[in-house]
Amino acid sequence: MASTPSPEQKHADVLVVFGITGDLARVMTFRSLYRLERRGLLACPVVGVAVDDWTVDQLVERARSSIVGSGEPLDEPVFARFASRLSYVKGDFTSPDTYAAVGKAIVGATTPVFYLEIPPFLFGRVVQGLAEAGLTDGARIVVEKPFGHDRASARALADELHTYIDESQLFRIDHYLGKMGLGEILQLRFANAILEPIWSRQYVDCVQVTMAEDFGVEDRGHFYDPVGALRDVVVNHLMQVVAATAAEPPSRGDPLTLKETQVALFRAIEPADPAHFVRGQYEGYRDIAGVAPDSQTETFAALRLDIENWRWAGVPFYVRTGKRLPVTQTEVRLVFRRPPRLGFGGAASDLEPNMLVVRLDPSTGIRIQVDAHRADQARVAPITLNMEFTDEGGEGPTPYEVLLRAAIDGDTVRFTRQDAVEETWRVMQPLLDAPPPVHPYAPGSWGPAEADVVTAGSGGWRTPWTA
Ligand code: BG6
Repeated sequence: MASTPSPEQKHADVLVVFGITGDLARVMTFRSLYRLERRGLLACPVVGVAVDDWTVDQLVERARSSIVGSGEPLDEPVFARFASRLSYVKGDFTSPDTYAAVGKAIVGATTPVFYLEIPPFLFGRVVQGLAEAGLTDGARIVVEKPFGHDRASARALADELHTYIDESQLFRIDHYLGKMGLGEILQLRFANAILEPIWSRQYVDCVQVTMAEDFGVEDRGHFYDPVGALRDVVVNHLMQVVAATAAEPPSRGDPLTLKETQVALFRAIEPADPAHFVRGQYEGYRDIAGVAPDSQTETFAALRLDIENWRWAGVPFYVRTGKRLPVTQTEVRLVFRRPPRLGFGGAASDLEPNMLVVRLDPSTGIRIQVDAHRADQARVAPITLNMEFTDEGGEGPTPYEVLLRAAIDGDTVRFTRQDAVEETWRVMQPLLDAPPPVHPYAPGSWGPAEADVVTAGSGGWRTPWTA
C-alpha cells in the first residue's frame, strides 16, 4: 500500500530507540537503519536508550556486529556515517531522571520519533515518562506488537496510552505491513483489469492463506508459550493478508481512506467459529526452555473465516499457520470455481480448478494455474505460469526498512489503527474464549490430520507453491 503524502507530514529530526541493547535491535533495527543510511534515506541522529551501562563505542560496536551478523555486506564509509549519528542514554525506564536525560540528548528537536522496542507492559510507563518530561508534543511513538492479548486488554492498553498522547501520534508496527508482497496484492487486484472482475464470489470458490515456517520456537519459549500461534501471527499478520486480499477498492490514496477501507472489511468478518478451528502442537515443543511441561499452547492453527458482504458472502477464507512445518512459505491462494461440463470432451469434475497464488515469503511472486492441452497428456491438464517479482524489479527493501522510514517520514498508512486492532480481536475472541484441544503433530508434517476437516468442503488444503 502506498499512500499519498499529506502536506502536514514532517520528517523526524531525531529517532530515539528505547531498548536499543535488546534482541530486536540486534536482529532487525541496526541492519534496517544501516540500509536506509546506504540509500541516503536516514537524515537524523539516532539516540539509544537502555538500562545497560554502555558507552557510545560499545553501541557502535554492537551496531557493527549486528549488521555483519545479519549477513549484510558492510561498506565502511556508509557505516562511519551511520555510526556518527549514534549516541546513548543509560537509564531505568521507571525513573524521571531517564526522561530528563533523554530531553537533554534531543534538545531542540520538534518532531522526535520514539521507538519502543520494549515489553508491552512498559509502554504506558515510558509514554508517561516522556509526557511528564514534556517530550511528547509533535512526537511519534512507535510500538511493536502484541497490542493486548484479547479485545479488552487491547482497549485498556490504548486507553492508557491515550491518557498521554493522541491516537494520531501512535504508530503500531505489524511488520507484515512493510512487506512488498502485501502491497502487491492490492496493486495486482485493482491495477489489472483482467483480475479485478473475477476477484469475488462470482468466480472464487475459496481463499486459502498459508503461513508455514519450517523452524520451531527454539529460544523463544518464554515469549511464545503464553501467546501461541493465534495471537502471535493470526490476529495481526494474517488478518493483514486477509484484508489486502478481500478489501474493496480504496476510493483515494490518503491514509485515512486506506484505513477506513481496511476497517470496513474487518467489520464484515463474522466472529470466528470454534467449530472451524483446529489447534496443533508439534512434538518436542514442551521440552523447550520456558515452555510449561503440560503446555496447551498451539504452535499450529487452522481456521475458517466468513466475510459477510456483497463480494464475499459464501466464500470461505481458510487460514493456517504453524511452526515446524515442511517449508517456510507464506501465500494467498484463490481457488476458482470449476467450469460446467465441457461439452466437447473431458469431465469438468476431473479438472483441477484454476488457482491464483500470490506468494509473500520467502520471495514474492504470482503463480496462475490454468488447465491446458499438453503434448504429454491425452487430455486437458494443469499447467502453471510463474512470475518471480525479483526477476523483474530486483530486491525490495526489508519490512523494517520500509516501516522505520515511514515512521521517520510521518507516513501513517503502514501502521495499524486502534479500531482495526479491536476489530481483529473481535473476530478472534470466540476462539480465545472456547479454544478446542491441541492435537500433537510430527515436526516436518503439515500439522495435525484434524486440520483437514476445516477445508473438507472445499477440496482440502492445497500444497503451497514451492517448486
Ligand atoms: C513474528 C512472530 O511477528 O513474525 C514470529 O513473532 C514469526 O513467531 C514472524 O516467526 C514471521 O515473520 P516473517 O517476516 O519471517 O514471516
